Amino acid sequence: MKIVIPGGTGQVGTILNRALTAAGHEVVVLTRRPMRDREVRWDGRTMGPWAEAIDGSEVVVNLAGRSVSCRYTATNLQAMMDSRVHSARLVGEAIASASQPPRLWLQMSTATVYAHRFDAPNDEATGVLGGTEPDVPGYWAYSVEIAKNWEQAQERAETPHTRKVALRSAMVMSPDRGGVFDVLLWLARLGLGGPVAGGTQYVSWIHDHDFVRAVEFLADRDDVAGPVNLAAPHPLPHRAFMRALRASWGVPVGLPATKWMAEIGALALRSNTELLLKSRRVVPGRLLEAGFVFDHAEWPGAAADLVRRVRSERRPG
Ligand SMILES: NC(=O)c1ccc[n+]([C@@H]2O[C@H](COP(=O)([O-])OP(=O)(O)OC[C@H]3O[C@@H](n4cnc5c(N)ncnc54)[C@H](OP(=O)(O)O)[C@@H]3O)[C@@H](O)[C@H]2O)c1
Repeated sequence: MKIVIPGGTGQVGTILNRALTAAGHEVVVLTRRPMRDREVRWDGRTMGPWAEAIDGSEVVVNLAGRSVSCRYTATNLQAMMDSRVHSARLVGEAIASASQPPRLWLQMSTATVYAHRFDAPNDEATGVLGGTEPDVPGYWAYSVEIAKNWEQAQERAETPHTRKVALRSAMVMSPDRGGVFDVLLWLARLGLGGPVAGGTQYVSWIHDHDFVRAVEFLADRDDVAGPVNLAAPHPLPHRAFMRALRASWGVPVGLPATKWMAEIGALALRSNTELLLKSRRVVPGRLLEAGFVFDHAEWPGAAADLVRRVRSERRPG
């Protein structure tokens, strides 16, 4: 298949590009700074010759968006919103004007669209969308607003020949340097992998191999459209999540941290605490219903597999 990945140079794009290329697909990446073969320049805001890459392709997976791992200043929040909404609209326009439109448009969204909750898991049918929870910081509602507008940009696109799926993805765990698993493992190895703010908040995650398999599964089916949760079926409280991560590397203890300590740590890392403190209890209702089987359904096994790959890929010599 010819697969086009706008924003495919980042963490998730690297995982997808590597796996889809290895599987024999022709992958083209749209980027603001092309440097390699099969990378095409676009700016994520205006139409241009890049649209020719989409015309005649089979699948488009749009991942473009300003990184969310940053301080949530007003300027950064606006850039997070605009880069997602504008690029999704633009991809929709390119598909709409293609003489041979792709049969599938997978649009990245996020598990963050669901409410901060502990009581029950969120699937696509019964899940509660966020934005009105009491006692959470205001900018958490803005993150939900970004996700909703991002999905709306895809929904509103008039692309009658193209099936549209919004990927409500949980954190994608891979052994790559700089990815979320790498950062968490680094903290655990420093002895800082204890529960944060009590550790009762849920963590939703998906192993990189299952993320790729789910994308391939959705590309093979022709009957799934709309929002689809990409998350392993067993999210778990942060405390248990970190305990399993420490066990997989053999770190005996992890210092617990309070909310305020997490705020200071996030400030030092130029990141924000929503990524750590929001309870994301998200389950893959539609994938399971459609018959998708996870290779890594439970976190302890997934963490052990990721640690094994980190160790073998980073062995000196
Ligand atoms: N990583 C996860 O676990 C996860 C989970 C759920 C959802 N997501 C979402 O999935 C998407 C991909 O995630 P990721 O971790 O791969 O993110 P990433 O590493 O930050 O990569 C996103 C890519 O978007 C492009 N981009 C950044 N700012 C842009 C702008 N202003 N206009 C157009 N393109 C821009 C960049 O490509 P160029 O610089 O090459 O143009 C960048 O490589 C993001 O939208 C993220 O929010 C990620």
